[in-house]
Amino acid sequence: MSLVDLPLLPLGKGRDLDAERGVECPGDLPAASDPDLVERARAAKAALGDRLFVLGHHYQRDEVIQFADVTGDSFKLARDAAGRPDAEFIVFCGVHFMAESADILTAPSQQVVLPDLAAGCSMADMARLRQVEDAWDAMGDAGIQDSVVPVTYMNSSADIKAFCGRNGGVVCTSSNADVALDWAFAQKPAGEAKILFLPDQHLGRNTAVLQMGIGLDECVVWDPHLPSGGLTADELAHARMILWKGHCSVHGRFTEDVVDELRAKHPGINILVHPECPHEVVLKADLVGSTEFIIKTIEAAEPGTVWAIGTELNLVKRLADNHPDKTIVFLNRNVCYCSTMNRIDLPHLVWALENLVAGQVVNQITVDPETEADALVALQRMLDLPGKSHRD
Ligand code: 13P
Ligand code: SF4
Repeated sequence: MSLVDLPLLPLGKGRDLDAERGVECPGDLPAASDPDLVERARAAKAALGDRLFVLGHHYQRDEVIQFADVTGDSFKLARDAAGRPDAEFIVFCGVHFMAESADILTAPSQQVVLPDLAAGCSMADMARLRQVEDAWDAMGDAGIQDSVVPVTYMNSSADIKAFCGRNGGVVCTSSNADVALDWAFAQKPAGEAKILFLPDQHLGRNTAVLQMGIGLDECVVWDPHLPSGGLTADELAHARMILWKGHCSVHGRFTEDVVDELRAKHPGINILVHPECPHEVVLKADLVGSTEFIIKTIEAAEPGTVWAIGTELNLVKRLADNHPDKTIVFLNRNVCYCSTMNRIDLPHLVWALENLVAGQVVNQITVDPETEADALVALQRMLDLPGKSHRD
């Protein structure tokens, strides 16, 4: 079994040797709290100089993001990775699907490193290639396959992106999902196209209904665990959006009652959420957008304004710390970090960097050439999309 095929398994020494390969950072590394680690990270970065490029997703911990050469959402980081052909090593402080995309978008001579291989994504794991191929065949049996354009969210494995590349589809991110849907609908004769949207039903539904004016009744959910996705031939024939039954385990936790509670407590509060949140929550929000959009919105907000933000907690806490002139609260009563994003901590980063200094590449992420070629088709279609989203 390749690492790409591994589902997220409960971690614990000895339970699954394959899953746990690349998870530990052995050697003389002290605990995460050791102040020397910051100095060691600085020294390793200085020793590697321009040979190294460190990318950091906005959901990374503070202790890690301080060492990123660039920060961004998944769209910006994909572009940034492709924009540094001179860097020998790309250290990706993010999750596995992002590192895979970086490997696909960089030259074969560039090596992409994920400091902890357990930094996966539960949403990406909800769409496995075999399940998607079975769904595609079932759509063939139902006589609709010729009308279907597959669109996958960046938060998917390389083999799902490759499936989209092979079958006339495209990748999208939360920054450009509306533009990608426009493109996908235009690939078939007017009125004929249906989109198979993978793997996040919420991003698919929110984009289709709120930005494209598609009816909720034209969206159906394909459950990969049921025969024919749990859908009748009639439901499939009338659908314009076939949404894969996947979701983000972090954004899926935001609920309408907290929106109501905060509005009652802080009259005039602005509710700002990520489109991975459930549709009912997004409907109650004032603004919706990617992590990059959320950051720009807070930067542009007037001092004294009050905001509740529905996205990962590392980012919300950082925004609150960086904008003391605004009141920023979390849209959840409970702590809700992305546990896999949080796998990348300072000991793992130092371990990866010091190994590079010593001439060893640890935790390299490589996508096989065939998958890479097909996935690149779908990623390149995304990068070639016009820049303007309906929100701009
Ligand atoms: P963006 O970075 O595209 O906003 O996505 C959020 C996310 O869940 C990343 O894993
Ligand atoms: Fe995956 Fe959600 Fe974590 Fe992003 S925040 S990596 S979509 S589980």
